[in-house]
Amino acid sequence: EVLLPPGLQKRVDYYLGEYISQKPRGMDAWIIPSSDGSIATDEGLFEQPEPLAPSKAAMEKITHKRSLKMHSEQETWQESEEGQKMLKFRKSLPAYKEKDAILNAISNNQVIIISGETGCGKTTQVPQFILESEIDSVRGGMCNIICTQPRKISAISVSERVATERGEMLGETVGYKVRLEGVRGMDTRLLFCTTGILLRRLLIDKTLKGVTHVIVDEVHERGINEDFLLIVLKDLLPRRPELRLILMSATLDADFFSSYFSGAPLVHIPGFTYPVRTHFLENVLETTGYRLTPHNQLDDYGIEKSWKMNKQAPRKRKSQIASAVEDTIREANFNDYSPQTRESLSCWNPDCINFNLIENLLDYICQNGKPGAVLVFLTGWDDISALKEKLQGHRILGDTSRALLLTCHGSMASSEQRLIFDKAEDGVRKIVLATNIAETSITIDDVVFVIDCGKAKETSYDALNNTPCLLPSWISKVLAKQRRGRAGRVQPGECYHLYPKCVYDAFADYQLPEILRTPLQSLCLQIKSLKLGSISEFLSRALQAPESLAVQNAIEHLKVIGALDGNENLTPLGRYLTMLPMEPKLGKMLLLGSMLHCLDPILTIVAGLSVRDPFLSPLEKKDLAEAAKAQFSHDYSDHLALLRAYQGWKDAERDLNGYEYCWKNFLSAQSMKAIDSLRTEFYLLLKDTGLVDSNSAIYNTWSYDEHLVRAVICYGLYPGVCSVVPNEKSFSLKTMEDGQVLLHSNSVNARNFDIAFPWLVFNEKIKVNSIFLRDSTAVSDSVLLLFGGSIQKGDVDGHLKMRGGYLEFFMSPGLAKMYQSLRKEFE
Ligand code: CDP
Ligand code: MG
Repeated sequence: EVLLPPGLQKRVDYYLGEYISQKPRGMDAWIIPSSDGSIATDEGLFEQPEPLAPSKAAMEKITHKRSLKMHSEQETWQESEEGQKMLKFRKSLPAYKEKDAILNAISNNQVIIISGETGCGKTTQVPQFILESEIDSVRGGMCNIICTQPRKISAISVSERVATERGEMLGETVGYKVRLEGVRGMDTRLLFCTTGILLRRLLIDKTLKGVTHVIVDEVHERGINEDFLLIVLKDLLPRRPELRLILMSATLDADFFSSYFSGAPLVHIPGFTYPVRTHFLENVLETTGYRLTPHNQLDDYGIEKSWKMNKQAPRKRKSQIASAVEDTIREANFNDYSPQTRESLSCWNPDCINFNLIENLLDYICQNGKPGAVLVFLTGWDDISALKEKLQGHRILGDTSRALLLTCHGSMASSEQRLIFDKAEDGVRKIVLATNIAETSITIDDVVFVIDCGKAKETSYDALNNTPCLLPSWISKVLAKQRRGRAGRVQPGECYHLYPKCVYDAFADYQLPEILRTPLQSLCLQIKSLKLGSISEFLSRALQAPESLAVQNAIEHLKVIGALDGNENLTPLGRYLTMLPMEPKLGKMLLLGSMLHCLDPILTIVAGLSVRDPFLSPLEKKDLAEAAKAQFSHDYSDHLALLRAYQGWKDAERDLNGYEYCWKNFLSAQSMKAIDSLRTEFYLLLKDTGLVDSNSAIYNTWSYDEHLVRAVICYGLYPGVCSVVPNEKSFSLKTMEDGQVLLHSNSVNARNFDIAFPWLVFNEKIKVNSIFLRDSTAVSDSVLLLFGGSIQKGDVDGHLKMRGGYLEFFMSPGLAKMYQSLRKEFE
């Protein structure tokens, strides 16, 4: 039943009682001894080879010995001076007061729900209470607690914190496991992992053998993985009566979860926060005397950002909330405020974050505010780094003896992460620029001021258009309150919302759960690989079931790209795709790229498709920017243009000229850097799943077969294909579903397109008034025939017929060979 690629199989090792056979990757194996002598690793459950299997009694003895050892170690720490000090801190947390209630509820119920204000100690204390009580009653060797976190960074930082509180190194009783990284050892009984890791384990170890407690943290965020995991666990509970499930949530709509688990009991941890004074934009303008003009808002992202706005405009479909916000402002009256403020408000641009305003406000706080750290909520890494750069040039904020500028976002390094918890020196104002990760997952203790831009990056998806996008969107009232609450942890605080009160009133109460706003393709693949039966039946049992049209779209798409067969079963390709946590089209490109030995360029292209467009086109220098882009775009492909731009940048970077190169060529240095790091990440993923072996490293030689790369792009982007239909003057473009479509003006193919290419494959189509195609690559008949959905020939035939011409079927010997090897791989 279990199909493991060779790389994984090799890593599986056996563990027997006290003996550990050679472990290829340090402590990187999931070790769960269980009483029946079988062994679970994170790669799955493997039966012990017959002659080696210890008797049940021997296993019990070993486990008991281990429990005794844990018990005495825990006691020694708790009695030590440092242990006492730590305990004193822990006792000051609101969660500690509920310790007995929580442990009681857990022992009497299979499912419980714990809610409490952020920072009250849910994540660090609850798993620890369970672990301590198990060790106290000398059952430490038997227990196995898994606590999931929605994000990698919180899994790591929390596990470090809990290990410290227990006076241990990571990898003793406490460990963590995230994708591509993990620390745990033989004695690890409490493991913090990302939700994705637990789902991956379920893939092979369906009943979570040996696991005694599963804690799903931050359920209120309603991430797609968490919602999915809850359906699976709900099904599992009756089959594992001993398993305990604990859901933890920051906000108070916990009743909702309770009724999903047939009335599971709630334990609420009452918290205490100091009052926080709230200022909306109108008050901010009044107090600081800052004036908004149309000009200072356009400039606020620095030049680059205003380019971006211009660039992204067509990408944006106005959401319901965005339109409501606009209406609200139009109708609002600000009669209570000074004429100056009223005029400012009429200039306010809801579509951008005003960096000048933030700078001014920070300056104001530094000069007039009481002591305390400032936490600024922005939408993503790009805003954060752009604002940081701007602030570094400021007289006070850029002076390291007066201000300490820190950043906090999902992809920061662990060393950077620790800095945000440290207190700043006297007289130095700590300023943390953060994404929504600092809303609940990460608590910075000394925050007194919060600045809230009102937005967060959120994927949105509309089943009717079938087009997803990741854009900053307005947050909900609950999140605004959550952000505000971060200011009142140590003393009364101040919160500055950078939008008018009437806009806040127009916010939705809660965020829409992710499962209702993202395409479901990856989720459907996961359902299939977990053998959970019919996709639509399974999803109908979610906390909030997605629209059936969205589910059908996803299934159809997976069939067309060859990941599911006609009966909704996984094909071999589908099975490989489930191992890659990314959009199937990107996964397909990586798979074929590695098979055809052109992984290097494909890694760049796939990474490029995952970041924002690096080609900038400032309004005032449009011609120059276009000319710069033209150097890269001689072969009718936006993807190849990006590849060339990246390679040029990489060469320049080696000579320390990267920035200059970007400047000269109208490229975003940030996007280039992001592509660079994503490339490595994708490569490691491929290696981790055993799909690439380590010696097929990325070559960076820049030599690749352009036709091959085009073919791989076509393979990934199919069925995103349109035909080029010549007409009297030039040509028009048609897709099967939409009829006539247009090219986005930024595409290299929007100019000088050579009619000799009969097809364009594209990554994304956006509906504005007409349908526009973004990044596209021209391909020939033979490439489309061989690489565009060759699994279901019918579709290609349909396209070919549509073109009305005849197919000049030309196949070079190279192509023929590739085709054969491809078919062999997949059959
Ligand atoms: O999960 P919840 O938001 O309820 O709180 P938590 O993450 O368990 O954090 C409880 C307290 O532990 C925080 O208020 C911090 O004082 C402290 N903590 C810390 O000092 N360092 C960390 N890395 C995490 C938490
Ligand atoms: Mg928490």
